[in-house]
Amino acid sequence: MSKMITKATKFEIINHWILALSCLFLALSGFAFLFHLEQLNAVFGSFATLKVLHNWIGVVFVVSLLATVSHYLPVALNLSGDDITWLAKGGGYIIKNVSLPEQDSINSGQKLYYLAILGAGLLISVSGFVIWLFPASKSMVLLSHLLHNVSFVIFAMAIPVHIYLATIANPGTFRIMVQGTVPLEWARKRHGKWIKRMGY
Ligand code: HEM
Repeated sequence: MSKMITKATKFEIINHWILALSCLFLALSGFAFLFHLEQLNAVFGSFATLKVLHNWIGVVFVVSLLATVSHYLPVALNLSGDDITWLAKGGGYIIKNVSLPEQDSINSGQKLYYLAILGAGLLISVSGFVIWLFPASKSMVLLSHLLHNVSFVIFAMAIPVHIYLATIANPGTFRIMVQGTVPLEWARKRHGKWIKRMGY
């Protein structure tokens, strides 16, 4: 059996699930407000209770998002020609068996995904706080509604793709968010640059 190496710590695993579950709750409750889903309001007692929960779970979401920064942002911003090549070749998803440049602890697609989630996540949080805390500033609230909805569209496009790529499309990836470990050989194939840096 191949040697196992750690890709995510216990803290990162728990934080990812807080991020994912808070994000899904916010999306669902956001839909309930947008489309007046009375049944969902009823599950939580009333529209007002659901709104309070939406606001405070928004706080949990942004804290959890900020907790990912030290782990992912330095590697996501470390862009080079290799990332252009990887993206130009569609990460090997479009034409199979193309040769791809070695990847860091996250690949070029994951770097873009992370930057999109961080950017849209900060935008959706700041605009949400304006709507929540400054209801009297009408023009700010109007602009914030626009930004809240635009950033939600980014989430709605990116997250289903992320879940698909992290499960069905790439067997062995999901265990990172459960056990935190991957086989060394699995990681060598997908994250060669990282594996070399780690001294394996
Ligand atoms: C329940 C569905 C989800 C599954 C199965 C899942 C799975 C994963 C896995 C396996 C990784 C680690 C990838 C790696 O290290 O190579 C990861 C990373 C990440 N996840 Fe999720 N995730 C889910 C939902 C979400 C949601 C809703 C968000 C929204 C904020 C999110 C945000 C992230 C981010 C920002 C990363 C780091 C970048 C990356 O590795 O792609 N995840 N996820």
